[in-house]
Amino acid sequence: MMDAGRHPNITLMAYSEVEDISGYVGNFKVKVRKKARYVDETECTACGDCVPVCPIVSADEFQAGLSTRRAIYIPFPQAVPSSYIINGDECMGNNPIACGKCLEACDKKCIDFDMQDEIVDLDVGAIIVATGMDVYDPTPLDEYGYTSYANVITSLEFERLISAGGPTEGHFVRPSDQTRPKRIGFVQCVGSRTALTDSNPDGQRGNPYCSNICCMNTIKDSLLLKDHYPDTDISVFYMDIRAFGKGFEDLYMRSKAEGVHYIRGLPGEVEEVDGTGNLTVYAENTTDGRLETHEFDLLVLSIGTTPRKETELVRQLLTLSRTSDGFLMEAHPKLKPVDSPTKGVYIAGCAEAPKDVKDSVTQASAAAARAEILLNAPQIQVEAITAVVDEDLCKKCGQCASVCPFSAILWEKKEVARVVSAACAGCGTCAAECRFDAITMRHFTDQQIYAMIDAILEDDPQNKILAFACNWCSYAGADTAGTSRLQYPPNAHLIRTMCSGRVSTDFVWYAFRKGAPLVLVSGCHYADCHYIDANRNTVRRVDALWEGLEKHSVRPERLQLDWCSAAEGQKWAKIMREIEELRAAVTPEEVEKTKEALKDKKTPITSKVWKLKEPTPATMRCYRCGHEWEVTFDLSAGGERMCPACRSNSVRVVL
Ligand code: FES
Repeated sequence: MMDAGRHPNITLMAYSEVEDISGYVGNFKVKVRKKARYVDETECTACGDCVPVCPIVSADEFQAGLSTRRAIYIPFPQAVPSSYIINGDECMGNNPIACGKCLEACDKKCIDFDMQDEIVDLDVGAIIVATGMDVYDPTPLDEYGYTSYANVITSLEFERLISAGGPTEGHFVRPSDQTRPKRIGFVQCVGSRTALTDSNPDGQRGNPYCSNICCMNTIKDSLLLKDHYPDTDISVFYMDIRAFGKGFEDLYMRSKAEGVHYIRGLPGEVEEVDGTGNLTVYAENTTDGRLETHEFDLLVLSIGTTPRKETELVRQLLTLSRTSDGFLMEAHPKLKPVDSPTKGVYIAGCAEAPKDVKDSVTQASAAAARAEILLNAPQIQVEAITAVVDEDLCKKCGQCASVCPFSAILWEKKEVARVVSAACAGCGTCAAECRFDAITMRHFTDQQIYAMIDAILEDDPQNKILAFACNWCSYAGADTAGTSRLQYPPNAHLIRTMCSGRVSTDFVWYAFRKGAPLVLVSGCHYADCHYIDANRNTVRRVDALWEGLEKHSVRPERLQLDWCSAAEGQKWAKIMREIEELRAAVTPEEVEKTKEALKDKKTPITSKVWKLKEPTPATMRCYRCGHEWEVTFDLSAGGERMCPACRSNSVRVVL
């Protein structure tokens, strides 16, 4: 931080918030609110004369609330700039008649209560998101007694207590009576690796993922304690120890050799021993199935990590996507681990996933290098496959702009839509959405796709399966099935699109009119779409198509939807086998009837957006196996829908 602060090419804007981001790769416009510090940072020498006179005392956030600070303070010892700041919400100085004592105490006269927030506009070519993470708050886990007993602390509080810069200057004492604890227990996986069940629907009692850093943090803490106080008796309650990094296993072995007891099994209950502040811990040792009781002077909860709440704003501003655990999603987990799906935006550190310092530094270096490559390039390469708007056909409805996952379409009311080619990633969802055929996707035009449908259904359509497959996952999945020599019916004819979001409802109607017995739309798994969330539009369109088919007395089973990843060759083969069975059940008479019913049909998309005010009971129906089941449907449950009987994604909510 100090180095960054001193670097001539880095402008550090501390105590600032990003308010708005617009533009695209190479040309981002960022609006930053630089909050009023009420102290002139260029004049303040950090002498500290203002502190003793300040009458406001608050909990010190940096010391995890274990000590106090004044309303005028330096947030933490290595803060850059190293100058005081006044917390405007706490300070009485805004009414100088009420206080203003720091103003009098400051010889340099660097305190200014009239200071205002400043809005700074920046033009930048690339953005790196490194917003970090939060730690899990163990308050809901009553069984550990965090809110009931003073001597149950979190691993973060432990760090402050044992730090030389902490509230006790490194003298490790327990909070209840300031004596040195001689028997210390650590509880692992607090808030991590907890299944989302009916009793933990929203992750309040813990998140399903491993927080990555807690095991090694506890091992490090145990060695630190043994180093400072060799007579300390330490026990660690764990599910399994994950010591997978370089040198980590050695550290674990060293900790064991130093006499730290590792007990496999998490405590079920913690009680305080009357009047002593000591704690009794009840746990099942799962290595031999024994119930054990342990007594400690102090219990440390090794808390997990959670995505940072404030990251959500940045995510929305940059149209980034999240993984199911709430961290930001990279463009590709192996090939583009620091790129985001939005061009020119990179991700570093724990914004992407929980990680330790070493991994964070590695990723930050990679993100900086990626940004540097972009900024030093004489020209930026853009996709060849981009959308083009025909201004004569555009009816200025703005529907295309509303579905673009990259905000690459600029549209103002009563204005023709404009595509920013540099920001367009080429998914084609805008072209599929446009009811006026005003958008052409280069290399994947409507004419090209209609020509492919014609060619496939030209002879013997009755025996063919027409499948739309997205380039990145399902088409590659079919490829994997082929190269793995997996057996599946050979009568599937694939039409490749860059994303399943490119599949317009008109293509499907056209295929049925041309005599297709069965159409499959397939793409990446719901959260894995390579164009952020373009395949949500696929679901919406297929839903509308099923509704339209029912209206025209065509069996909706003849339109199938499935997600398949590039690695799932087996799954692709299974899907094709199942679909061939469905196709074989479609009679020539049925196909003829459909052609007649859909003659001259061009159904506009019914934009089916579920807007439920409260969770609503609904029936789900599977169009693969016919299974029906009850659910409580709400929009927050917007993940991948899957039939519990056959695991197909051809399922629909029937409210
Ligand atoms: Fe595969 Fe969007 S890229 S569904």
